[in-house]
Amino acid sequence: MIRPVPLPPEPPRGPLWQTLAWSFRPLAFMAHNREQIGSAFSVRFLGFERPMVMVSDPAAVKALYTERRNGLPPGRKFALEPVLGPRSVLLLEGEEHMARRRLMLPPFHGERMRSYESVVGEIVTAEIDSWQPGAAFPIHARMQAVTLEVILRAVFGVAAGPRLDRLRVLLRDILAETGSTRRQLLGLVARRRGSDPLEGVRERLAAVDELMFAEIAEHRRRPDLAERDDILSMLMTASFEDGSSMDDKELRDQLMTLLIAGHETTATALAWTFDLLLRHPVELGRLRMSLEAGEEAHLKATIAESLRLRPVVPIAGRRLAEDLVTDDLHLPAGTDVTAAIWLTHTDPANYPEPFAFRPERFLETAPDTYAWIPFGGGVRRCLGAAFAEFEMRIVLREVLTRCDLRKLDPHPEHTGRRNITFSPRAGTPVVIESRRPARAPALA
Ligand code: HEM
Repeated sequence: MIRPVPLPPEPPRGPLWQTLAWSFRPLAFMAHNREQIGSAFSVRFLGFERPMVMVSDPAAVKALYTERRNGLPPGRKFALEPVLGPRSVLLLEGEEHMARRRLMLPPFHGERMRSYESVVGEIVTAEIDSWQPGAAFPIHARMQAVTLEVILRAVFGVAAGPRLDRLRVLLRDILAETGSTRRQLLGLVARRRGSDPLEGVRERLAAVDELMFAEIAEHRRRPDLAERDDILSMLMTASFEDGSSMDDKELRDQLMTLLIAGHETTATALAWTFDLLLRHPVELGRLRMSLEAGEEAHLKATIAESLRLRPVVPIAGRRLAEDLVTDDLHLPAGTDVTAAIWLTHTDPANYPEPFAFRPERFLETAPDTYAWIPFGGGVRRCLGAAFAEFEMRIVLREVLTRCDLRKLDPHPEHTGRRNITFSPRAGTPVVIESRRPARAPALA
């Protein structure tokens, strides 16, 4: 007889307590479990039939992400499908998923990506120009405005016009409405009761769909569609291996995915980076000096260190297609497993003095593939990782060379929840101490 393989232990308290702890004190919850149970433990959340095993050892993370046949756990669908739609690349599996990835990756790489440099530069310059010395505001909100403009321009080719103005407002509202922890808990309860978890935002989602379909129709009428380099035009003219292409419903889902996954995460990563830099003047000084010298390495290392210490997306799970086996772990096929990203990033076995903000640790050595996983991994690794890093570099360079900022509250920000992300709870309020004019554009 085959004996069933036991899962790693769970915390002693039940699903209600675990759900609340994960919702309101996620870092303390994970750290406590690591301390009491070990680098792999099971958690049970309300509304889910099976436990989720959280792993953080790089060997387990590697085994999880290198198995291409692994599927998705149900949590991703519950959380994202109502807004992103069923054809979103984030939610498809197997060959369907791979076919979308192949079509959607080109705009986010190499030359194509670098062509957005001037767009990002223009948007952040205009944003900084609107900051008056002495003004105080949460920088997270300003970064959201910047990254939303960037992705709207990248996706549609323009960011102006009444349709996109309306879309911008609706997207902001929907994210604010669905983002809070309270709202997410209500969503869980609604699902258990069989009622609508999106009550209150349905009308706004329908309005977004109408705008998206109108924008798609307008693109279809353009005689220069095949030559345009915005992402929507590229998706409309690209074809799958069998010669077919995305229909309008699918285009809507992929656009929504790019607009939402592509801006909220990057804005949050920027806000965390400001929170860290403004509390570490020595590191900030070093970064500024390297920027003045026209170097890029320190900036890249700062971003890597910020994403290590404050990973924006806490989990990126899979449902195992095969048993996952490492020297220390055996999880049977069918188990829902996720990397606990923050735990991997704060394990002293992976990073000496793991809670210290030390960008230099990435100056000499590139991050290790399975010990640095802010973008998940394997065949589902974030499609926009290179784009996000590139955008962050431009925004940080512009803000730090033009402005002196001070954090209003000198203490570290608490981690709050916003949609599926860990974000700075107070939005990182800053004061603009001084601002310099933009550098004159280089003469052609
Ligand atoms: C700092 C910013 C970002 C972070 C931390 C982040 C993080 C992640 C993570 C953890 C995943 C799941 C990976 C997995 O399951 O292994 C993911 C997937 C994805 N991200 Fe990002 N992301 C960021 C920016 C972006 C941007 C800028 C875009 C697009 C413009 C984007 C588009 C996507 C897409 C389409 C997927 C789905 C990939 C797939 O399932 O094949 N992300 N991201």
